[in-house]
Formats: sequence, C-alpha cells, structure tokens
Amino acid sequence: MSQNKLDILLQKRAKIELGGGEKRIEKQHNSGKLTARERLNILFDEGTFIELDAFVKHRCNHFGMEKVDAPGEGVVTGYGKVEGRLVYAFAQDFTVLGGSLGEMHAKKMEKVMDMALKMGAPVVGLNDSGGARIQEGVDALAGYGKVFYKNTIASGVVPQISAIMGPCAGGAVYSPALTDFIFMVDKTSQMFITGPQVIKTVTGEEVSAQDLGGAMTHNATSGVAHFVSESDEDCIMGIRKLLSFLPSNNLEKAPILDCDDVNEKIDVLDTIMPDNSNKPYDMKDIITSIVDDSDFFEVQPYFARNILTGFARINGESVGIIANQPTYMAGCLDINASDKASRFIRTCDAFNVPILNFVDVPGFLPGTSQEYGGVIRHGAKMLYAYSEATVPKVTIITRKAYGGSYLAMCSKDLGADIVYAWPSAEIAVMGPDGAANIIFRKDIKASDDPASVRTEKVKEYREEFANPYQAAQRGFVDDVIQPSLTRIRLCDAFDVLKSKRESRPPKKHGNIPL
Ligand code: HXC
Repeated sequence: MSQNKLDILLQKRAKIELGGGEKRIEKQHNSGKLTARERLNILFDEGTFIELDAFVKHRCNHFGMEKVDAPGEGVVTGYGKVEGRLVYAFAQDFTVLGGSLGEMHAKKMEKVMDMALKMGAPVVGLNDSGGARIQEGVDALAGYGKVFYKNTIASGVVPQISAIMGPCAGGAVYSPALTDFIFMVDKTSQMFITGPQVIKTVTGEEVSAQDLGGAMTHNATSGVAHFVSESDEDCIMGIRKLLSFLPSNNLEKAPILDCDDVNEKIDVLDTIMPDNSNKPYDMKDIITSIVDDSDFFEVQPYFARNILTGFARINGESVGIIANQPTYMAGCLDINASDKASRFIRTCDAFNVPILNFVDVPGFLPGTSQEYGGVIRHGAKMLYAYSEATVPKVTIITRKAYGGSYLAMCSKDLGADIVYAWPSAEIAVMGPDGAANIIFRKDIKASDDPASVRTEKVKEYREEFANPYQAAQRGFVDDVIQPSLTRIRLCDAFDVLKSKRESRPPKKHGNIPL
C-alpha cells in the first residue's frame, strides 16, 4: 500500500478525533466538562476502547448543512472493557454541533444498542447534547423515536446506564428515563421537558435552569435521577462501580468476589436497638456492619429518604438492599418511597440480583395528600414488585412491622424465601397505642381512671403482640435470631438460595399499577 493512502487515513482520523476543534474543546474544559473521548477513556479499562463508525456523516442539506463538517457526527461510539467485562457506550460530543442528534448520530447510537443486545453486554450512554438537531427536522425526531424503541426492547435484557453530563432537554430526556439508572453531574447538567423560557411564556413562572432541572432537583425532588456526582470523573467512576454489582445481561449473575469473613459475629448489633421502640436509629449502621467490607452503594440517597435502596455484597455475592430508615419520617412508607423501592426491586429481579430487606416500618403515611396522590396505586407497586420477583428474597425484621406495610416489605406471604426476626421485632396489625384505642375503647371509656386503664391495656397488647413470637408460631417468621449472628445467617441464607428455582404462569406481561 502506498504511504499516501496511509497518510490519508491518519489525517482523517486525527481530524475526527479533534471533534469540534481546539477552541470548542477549550470552551468545554472551561465550563468544567471533559470531552466525549476523555470521558470514554476514564470509563474503559486502559487501551480497551474500540471505536465504531468514526467516519459516519450526516445526509442533511437544509440550511447550508451540506457544507457543514460534523466530525464523528457529534457522538463517539464503540465498545471496550470495564473491569475486564465487555461494555458498549456512546458519548455525545458537545463540541460538534452541540452534540445535537440527527439521523446518522442516532444510527450510531442504535448500532451500539443493537450490538450490546446481541452480545449481552451493558450499554452506557454519556449524554451532553442540545437535543434534536434543528436543521434535520423530522429525521432527528425519528432518530430519537428509534432510540426510545431500542431502549425499551433492551430494558430488562442488558443493563442500561445513562449519565447526564451537560444539557438534556425536551423529548431527549426520555432516552435516559427509559434506562435503568441515571447519573447527573452537579452544576453542569440539566434535564427538563420544557426549559425556563417556555415555562415563563406559558405559566409565568420564573425558574433558573439549575433549579428546574439540575442534578439536585432530580436527585432529591423529582426522583428522576439516581446519583449525583461532583465531576465528570467522579460520575464515570460511579458508573464503573455500579456495573460491578450487575451482571452483563439477564441470563447471567453479577460477578462474585472472594470473601473470607463469612463467620463474623457482629457484637454491636446486640445492643444497637434503642429500649424505647419509638426512638430512631440509623438503619445504615446496621447495613454497613453486616455487608462485606461495610460497602453499601446507595441508590437514590437523596430521594424518599424514609426508605434506603442500594447494592452491597454478602459473602462476595451482589445483593440489592431495601430498608426502612427510622431516622426519616420514622421509616414509614409513602408514595415516593413506594415508587423508589418498587423500581429498585424490579431492577434487581430483572438482573438476577438477590434481594435483602431490613424492616422497621410503622405503617403507610396517613393523610389526604397521600390518599389524593394515589398512595393506594403507588403502594400496590411494592406488593406487585415483591410478589413478581423470583430472585432469592430474604427479610430481616429488626423492629416494627405493622399492617399493610409489614406485608409490603416482603413478608413471607409475598414470597420471601427466608424471614428472620430480631427479638426486638413487633409484628402485628397496628402499634400498641392505636390498637388499644380501638379494641379496648369501651373498657377505657367505662373506667373511672381512663388514663391508667389505657396504659394497662397498651401494656397488655404490647406483651401479647409487640414481639416476633406470634408470627414465629405461625411460621411467618422462620426464626428469631440473635442480632449479632445476622451476617452469619445471611451468608448461609444466600448460599442456600443459590439453587432457588421459581417459575410463574406464562403471560404476555403483567399489569403493574403505574
Ligand atoms: C443544532 C445545535 C443545537 C440543536 C446547539 N446547537 N443545539 N445545533 N441543533 N438542537 C449548536 C449551536 O448552534 C452551537 O453551534 C453549538 O451547538 C453550541 O451551542 P451554544 O448555544 O453555543 O452552547 P451553549 O451556550 O452552551 O448552550 C447550549 C444549549 C443551547 C443550552 C443546549 O445551544 C440550546 O438551547 N440549544 C437548543 C436546545 C433545544 O431547544 N433543542 C431542541 C430540544 S427539543 P456553533 O456552530 O455556534 O458552535 C428536542 C426534541 C426531541 O430535542 C424530541 C424527541 C421526541
């Protein structure tokens, strides 16, 4: 081959790799963002990234676009290894036409999604884009439509992870929203359906882009996003960590790590529970003392803080943890907690990640705002998600487990394979105070000293029901265990459940209340 042909290739490649050029790269850096290629270099193990479709070109000839060179079509796509495992990725290049999505840009994304599906590998999307490429009109919209369709087809087959690392506006937000997890970089990313200008025109409301759709808005208020990161690098390292808890596809298990402390007794757990059952304690202290290396990778830490969701490992095996948090709203369930937990349960079940529940729940939050907001519909999602899940399900009842919320936190009747209770567990239809007011109302009213009769009846009820033994007598609890032995019992439980087989009647799909 002549040197000339090689030179042409190298020149073309160098031009493509420069994206929108040095000035725009500098602008990208000055705004606190890395370029698409820099981001991919952090995502993949060193030297493993293979680029696809670098030479793809748009076919638009409106508004002078025929003369516009858009290196890489504004998106860098390909595959590589993350901790040695195959992962596909696309990274939108904001330096090229603002990373806007046209027909061919979308085709590049579609190709990596198709290949990921065929190969059974996760897809990571790094979003940084002005949205639909205005010059391409309906071709750009069609591109988004195809991406949404493929996101949906891939859902539950391969993990899909999105990072929002710049603007993401209009219908463009729906591709990340269809994926399993959304990371957002604090201060440099935004997601919204309609921007501040349109809102001002239509409703008169004035709001900044950050307040409307910044990382904390979606992590703490809307629940759209799952993680907030301080920087691009922090975000991508978070994606690598998240991938480590997931399998490559729905036919595999997540990687199992070595673990050598399965027989560890954790003495502090025998004294962690306050004497007064209305006193809060931090459920995270229990979780971190039980899981391998105290490593709890929390998902949605700022949203619906009355329930905790996240990944950890027990005896080296990845598990998804759902736990009530007594330090926040006494750990009760409400609309947002139900949505957060249900989504997480379904994600774990889709990807063969066993589920571990820690229960201390006084009930569902009462009130008109909850009822009008459809807490019945939302709470039902938890019942549905737990009942539907066929992965190993283990429940530890640490303290309160009352009424519908007891059932909703993966009771035996919703298919928990193993339920253990601590001696501090209280399992009943409702708490002693509420129950005494109802079932002993007449005795209390008829008494000369209602206050002391009430106290006496509350005590009577507490002794009878506010313990784990009624439930253990019926077999709803498999064993009442010493808290310090919880890790040992969990290592055994998940080991036993490795061979669990459970099937469901065939159907097109269930109809989860939405
Ligand atoms: C074509 C675009 C573009 C777009 C940005 N650019 N967005 N080109 N189509 N949608 C180009 C700019 O012309 C500019 O080109 C370069 O990208 C960088 O943009 P700037 O405006 O200079 O950057 P910045 O000041 O950082 O502002 C970024 C921005 C802004 C906030 C994203 O560009 C913007 O508001 N863009 C339009 C956003 C939008 O309304 N998109 C449509 C959303 S609706 P030069 O050559 O000057 O560097 C949508 C529908 C999807 O996406 C529907 C799916 C069903």
